[in-house]
Amino acid sequence: MISKTLQTVLLLGLVLSLHIRNSSLSGKLPISLKNCTKLITLDVAENELVGSIPAWIGKRFSSMVVLNMRANKFHGRIPRELCNLASLQILDLAHNRLSWSIPTCFNKLSAMATRNDSLGKIYLDSASSTFDNVLLVMKGKVVEYSTILKFVRSIDLSSNALCGEIPEEVTRLSELQSLNLSQNSLTGRIPEGIGALRYLESMDFSVNQLSGEIPQSMSDLTFLSHLNLSDNRLRGRIPSGTQLQSFGPSSFSGNELCGPPLSKNCSVDNKFHVEHEREEDGNGLGGRWFYVSMVLGFIVGFWGVVGPLMFNRRWRYVYYHFLDRLRDQIWWRFM
Ligand SMILES: *[C@@H]1O[C@H](CO)[C@@H](O)[C@H](O)[C@H]1NC(C)=O
Ligand SMILES: *[C@@H]1O[C@H](CO)[C@@H](O)[C@H](O)[C@H]1NC(C)=O
Ligand SMILES: *[C@@H]1O[C@H](CO)[C@@H](O)[C@H](O)[C@H]1NC(C)=O
Ligand SMILES: *[C@@H]1O[C@H](CO)[C@@H](O)[C@H](O)[C@H]1NC(C)=O
Ligand SMILES: *[C@@H]1O[C@H](CO)[C@@H](O)[C@H](O)[C@H]1NC(C)=O
Ligand SMILES: *[C@@H]1O[C@H](CO)[C@@H](O)[C@H](O)[C@H]1NC(C)=O
Repeated sequence: MISKTLQTVLLLGLVLSLHIRNSSLSGKLPISLKNCTKLITLDVAENELVGSIPAWIGKRFSSMVVLNMRANKFHGRIPRELCNLASLQILDLAHNRLSWSIPTCFNKLSAMATRNDSLGKIYLDSASSTFDNVLLVMKGKVVEYSTILKFVRSIDLSSNALCGEIPEEVTRLSELQSLNLSQNSLTGRIPEGIGALRYLESMDFSVNQLSGEIPQSMSDLTFLSHLNLSDNRLRGRIPSGTQLQSFGPSSFSGNELCGPPLSKNCSVDNKFHVEHEREEDGNGLGGRWFYVSMVLGFIVGFWGVVGPLMFNRRWRYVYYHFLDRLRDQIWWRFM
């Protein structure tokens, strides 16, 4: 429960920065927060808060730069209204019970999409002391960002139950430095335009169900120093270029990928496998038609061969000879 004094402060709506980290806070996010429309930082990480993430966060806090609700028990969907937070630089909703898909409006988080130093600067200068205490998880480590916060842009939605595809809109956040979507149930392909995240230093998509090939554009991410795509259903060749080959094999493990830095060669077999699967993806009939035509082929072939044999002794010899060779061919091809 929130103390009486805090309630009063919240009611007055004077708070610019609220850190209630690891304080065994339970119940729902207090509705009195609604009045703190000047809030720049809301950090309620590591508590026992429940309920859904209120949509009013996106409507009331137009100046919000940091939203950290990490490690609570929030459930339900990520409200689309969060996309109204045009000044937001840090969004950390990791380790909750969020489900549904990632909103397709993330491209509206304009502080992450365009470089506008004047924007962040205005808010940060007006409240420079309120960022003493911003903790961030980047590249797997907890870091305290205070003085350099105005340069940091990060999204962490890891360890939830998010599903659906990674929306293409995420690739518009060209100022993003860290993106962690690890440990969810995301499906589909990695967006083709992922290479547009040109300042990305850390990308963690591990432990999801992402499929398809790694987009070629990913090798354009020249600042990338931490990558984890392990434990997905990715397949095919890892795009070449110096960038992706500089990571260890563990960044790609638990997939069906091939080529450096993995020791598995992209053999002809592998290529056949991929193309064959694509055909099946296409209409799902490939397999069945193959059997139908095989049966037809057998009927035609059988009577074409056996029929004449019943009538002509000389042909019988030729056919048997021919059949022997044919059988060898078939064994060779299918076994
Ligand atoms: C949270 O607070 C408890 C004590 O109140 C402490 O033991 C624990 O280490 C803290 N956790 C973190 C992650 O800071
Ligand atoms: C917001 O503040 C007004 C007074 O300015 C008060 O009447 C109202 O109850 C407050 N709203 C909430 C949700 O606390
Ligand atoms: C940058 O932010 C300032 C202050 O809010 C605004 O006036 C300006 O239009 C913004 N520039 C761009 C390119 O978004
Ligand atoms: C991403 O999130 C997971 C789960 O919260 C964490 O284990 C991992 O270290 C994070 N990755 C990075 C690069 O910070
Ligand atoms: C990638 O993520 C998995 C699971 O989250 C973790 O076990 C592994 O250590 C990570 N690998 C790297 C290279 O960060
Ligand atoms: C991979 O292919 C290269 C040449 O294409 C060959 O030298 C190497 O032995 C192969 N490695 C494996 C594990 O098959």
